[in-house]
Amino acid sequence: MRLSAAAVGLLVAPTAYGWGSLGHITIAYVATNFVQDETAAYFKELLRNDTIHYMAGVATWADTAFHTRSRAQARESCGKVSLSPSSGQFTKNFHFIDAKDAPPTNCHVDFGRDCKKDGCVVSSLDNYTRQLLDSELAAWRRNQAAKFVIHFAGDISQPLHAENVEQGGNGIRVRWEGAELNLHHVWDSSIAEKMLGGIHRKPYPAAHAWAADLTAAIRDGKYSEESKTWTDGMSLDDPIQTSMAWARESNAHVCDAVLPDGPSAIVGQELASGMYFARAAPVVELQVARAGYRLARWLDLIVERVHARGPAENEL
Ligand SMILES: *[C@@H]1O[C@H](CO)[C@@H](O)[C@H](O)[C@H]1NC(C)=O
Ligand SMILES: *[C@@H]1O[C@H](CO)[C@@H](O)[C@H](O)[C@H]1NC(C)=O
Repeated sequence: MRLSAAAVGLLVAPTAYGWGSLGHITIAYVATNFVQDETAAYFKELLRNDTIHYMAGVATWADTAFHTRSRAQARESCGKVSLSPSSGQFTKNFHFIDAKDAPPTNCHVDFGRDCKKDGCVVSSLDNYTRQLLDSELAAWRRNQAAKFVIHFAGDISQPLHAENVEQGGNGIRVRWEGAELNLHHVWDSSIAEKMLGGIHRKPYPAAHAWAADLTAAIRDGKYSEESKTWTDGMSLDDPIQTSMAWARESNAHVCDAVLPDGPSAIVGQELASGMYFARAAPVVELQVARAGYRLARWLDLIVERVHARGPAENEL
């Protein structure tokens, strides 16, 4: 979630979280469908949820519940840990990387140039992945790290979470079915909602059904061939390089689908019909599918490494 003061006033939809809840929850269900059994067991225990919703149920936590401290956190932070969990302010830059490029002619994201000093989505995936691998960390911290990884693996696939122009499009006013919205919100939520037939006030059933379609498309449908390359180059030894590849891919879509005619040409345009939607919808679908599939593999790698160290070391 990233909202300028001006953007807040433009929102008409009930929620506006980086990928709306629909996108994040769908990505979590897709990942749930692809993780290995050991991975599912590990995260069901860590997230203390034994149902098929163990990931989906925490997919939007980083946007919402982080503003209130849980009882476990409050107990643990008494004295020894100072995470300032009550504010959540320190995570505000963790949801995106602000590529200072020039769409539509030049799309490019650079870690050194674009990741802010206090962090970005790429450094945060690195940070919370390392925390998940650190068996000495308290369980509630690894629980929190899991929720962050599940969320940020989604955020990074939203093209406007890898773009600086007008605060990731928050400052660009467009029209959507006649209403005024900002471009960031259109990409977080409106395109996916329209693809699924309208705004879903209860996103879980809609996300679950969408994830089933995407899973079938990956297993033996239109993505079955290309999905074989989606995990290429993924390395737990280099989370920054791994997630930079995801960010570059998202950012490239800023040039080809988000701002194909540049930032000023889109202002005031109706985007819910015609060419724009026709070009955007397949990109949203692809990005959600890729993010879920990659998240599954990433969590598999984490659990493989934790288990490879053996129980003795994990007990230390
Ligand atoms: C598991 O998560 C789902 C979705 O958040 C929730 O409805 C359910 O109550 C949870 N179950 C347990 C045992 O916590
Ligand atoms: C890593 O995560 C911890 C715990 O949430 C946080 O306090 C810290 O600022 C993060 N570090 C970076 C570099 O993002």
